[in-house]
Amino acid sequence: MKPIFSASLALLLILNSNLSLTQTAGGVKPAHSPDIEHSIDSIIAGLTLQEKIGQLVQYSGGWSTGPTGRRINDEKRTLIKEGKTGSLLNVIGSSVTHELQKIAVEESRAKIPLLFGLDVIHGFKTTFPIPLAEAATWDAEAVELSARVSAAEAASSGIHWTFAPMVDIARDPRWGRIAEGSGEDTYLGSVMAAARVRGFQGRNLSDPTAIMACAKHYAAYGGAEGGRDYNTVDISEQTLRDVYLPPFKAALDAGAGTFMASFNEINGVPSSGSHFLLTTILRDEWGFDGFVVSDWNSIGELIPHGYAGTPARAAELAINAGLDMDMESRCYRDNLESLVTQGKVRAATLDSAVRRILRMKFRLGLFADPYRACTPEREAKTLRSAANIEAARNVARKAIVLLKNEHSLLPLSKNVKTIAVIGPLANNHRDPVGTWAGPTDTNNVVTLLDGVRAAVPASRVLFAPGCAIDGTDTAGISAAVGVARQADVILLAAGESEDMSGEARSRSSLELPGRQADLVQAVHATGKPVVLVLMNGRPLALSREAANLPAILETWFLGHETGHAIADVLFGSYAPSGRLPASFPRVTGQVPIYYNHKNTGRPADDSVHFTSRYLDVPSTPLYPFGFGLTYTSFAYADLAIASPRVKATDSVSVRITLKNTGSRGGEEVVQLYVRDEVGSLTRPVRELKAYRRVRLEPGQTTSVTLSIPATDLAFTGVDMRRRVEPGMFTVYVGPNAGEGLVGRFEVFE
Ligand code: GLC
Repeated sequence: MKPIFSASLALLLILNSNLSLTQTAGGVKPAHSPDIEHSIDSIIAGLTLQEKIGQLVQYSGGWSTGPTGRRINDEKRTLIKEGKTGSLLNVIGSSVTHELQKIAVEESRAKIPLLFGLDVIHGFKTTFPIPLAEAATWDAEAVELSARVSAAEAASSGIHWTFAPMVDIARDPRWGRIAEGSGEDTYLGSVMAAARVRGFQGRNLSDPTAIMACAKHYAAYGGAEGGRDYNTVDISEQTLRDVYLPPFKAALDAGAGTFMASFNEINGVPSSGSHFLLTTILRDEWGFDGFVVSDWNSIGELIPHGYAGTPARAAELAINAGLDMDMESRCYRDNLESLVTQGKVRAATLDSAVRRILRMKFRLGLFADPYRACTPEREAKTLRSAANIEAARNVARKAIVLLKNEHSLLPLSKNVKTIAVIGPLANNHRDPVGTWAGPTDTNNVVTLLDGVRAAVPASRVLFAPGCAIDGTDTAGISAAVGVARQADVILLAAGESEDMSGEARSRSSLELPGRQADLVQAVHATGKPVVLVLMNGRPLALSREAANLPAILETWFLGHETGHAIADVLFGSYAPSGRLPASFPRVTGQVPIYYNHKNTGRPADDSVHFTSRYLDVPSTPLYPFGFGLTYTSFAYADLAIASPRVKATDSVSVRITLKNTGSRGGEEVVQLYVRDEVGSLTRPVRELKAYRRVRLEPGQTTSVTLSIPATDLAFTGVDMRRRVEPGMFTVYVGPNAGEGLVGRFEVFE
């Protein structure tokens, strides 16, 4: 049988590679290309059934990194040569990807290029802050830059596709994967989802520095009961559509080429077998024309879910639901041929899945150049370039959230004589890169101790670990106290290890792990000024620390440039501008606690007994969503709504005046929240609908106008139809979800 893929086709596709692109909200979505579809027609017509199934099968390459690292095994090489796989994940490096691609396009019969996928979540060789930290920047451009740099580095190492952005809304910080997303809010999560897709995919997916994005984990994976990973999700369809799905739609509108089906079930149907999710919503309602990959073995897990009795049934349910590519379960490999011959899976269904995968390979330009101009020279020049490292430092600084700063202890003077840097995360190279750091080298991580020493070379900088991140050993605390007594100011780096958040890393307690709280208490007891520098992958419960310490910096896991970024903020070369993307509870028992909750018939009032509250803790979070301080102060005044009555098809414009009332320049994140006062379904007490970062110098005043289309006030009704309901709305404009100026307006039809 003649080879499917010929040189003339390559010429056509090179001409075709500059696909006409349609600018969509927040990104570029390739327009439908008849040439590509015709090319796919001829390829599919020439494939055997086994070769078609091969395109739907993805294997892990076991972190093969080529000649110097682990070799990919011969079984995988044979599968490539026999056309029995269309994609590998966890193969890294320009040389090994070139070697395997050569087998696919020269030695296999169909000569279809392979797709190399990898979790490029927040960096590649230059590690950026974890996504939750990046969301704390509230800066879409910064987040897009992070993804852009990560894509360029990964693409130079032969990667075509990242399993990111993770866009799961998370309202329960016990869930370890809150670290990988953008927190609790749908609007902020949607902004960040689109920014990451734009960064990864650039303006044209066939650009060799672009990698294809993958919106995951579709869907509502963050709604796991008890914050326990992989656990049951039981939510109304309205909540699914209004809280969890919009970030996925934002990723799609930004042009995301793929989606990843999640492990969890929703209301009894596992996502990987859900025709409602994978076809009705994703394709029929949203018009998605890319492809869906399963999560690792999530097709096989339809069996323990109790949704399929056999691997064959699991394969049948998944492919008929609209799941195109099987990551590592082998269910497709082992069963699709017989399912097609038995008529349980239509040939057309199989062909549609193959078509969607080939379409994305065409859009990536893989048929025009299967190697995407990838060479060891380009790789060496791209990885960890000075520009990339500078970008990582800039994004990291923006992610830092100042939670407390009593008596303006911060910024510290650079003339400070003696500084004690204490704690298990103070001189730690591994944990600051956080979860899903990928194939990075942590030896060149700038620790907090490194950053402080570099920032104040004339100061005496002392160090003591004090205790471990976890465990019961307190033997080192007295030495740490001894070091603290010698210092003028203490930086206490405490928090979590990188493997306390991320996949399969839910925690039942949000307090500082191990004996760190004892370390904090002992150092505090010296009477010296203590700055708590938190490094963590989730909101923590910090009541005691917040009650006793004068200053608290939330630095999350900031990646390679951790120490420089924190020092930039500590010594004032960068004023902190981060804002919380998720609420911080007072105690673990408060979770789930999130700002856009319902009011109930007896809204929490700590002064009234019979209301929705706890007896033993105030009803508010320790720090609310959107909270963050800086080195100056701002005053909000004169809220004015352009028109007190707004047509449902118009926009609402709200203006305030903002003044820098402090003595330093700084950035404020002006946030606009809305409450639909009465609805056919109850509505949240607040919902973020817009925000603006504003920089003001001391004494400067400016007016800030935020406008939102009234359609943004829509919600899904009892009939599953989205609508804006006429009536009164309250608007809040302020520095976080717990305060702000208040106004009202009416929407009419
Ligand atoms: C994992 C994760 C998913 C990741 C995939 C490939 O189990 O759930 O986020 O992309 O496997 O590594």
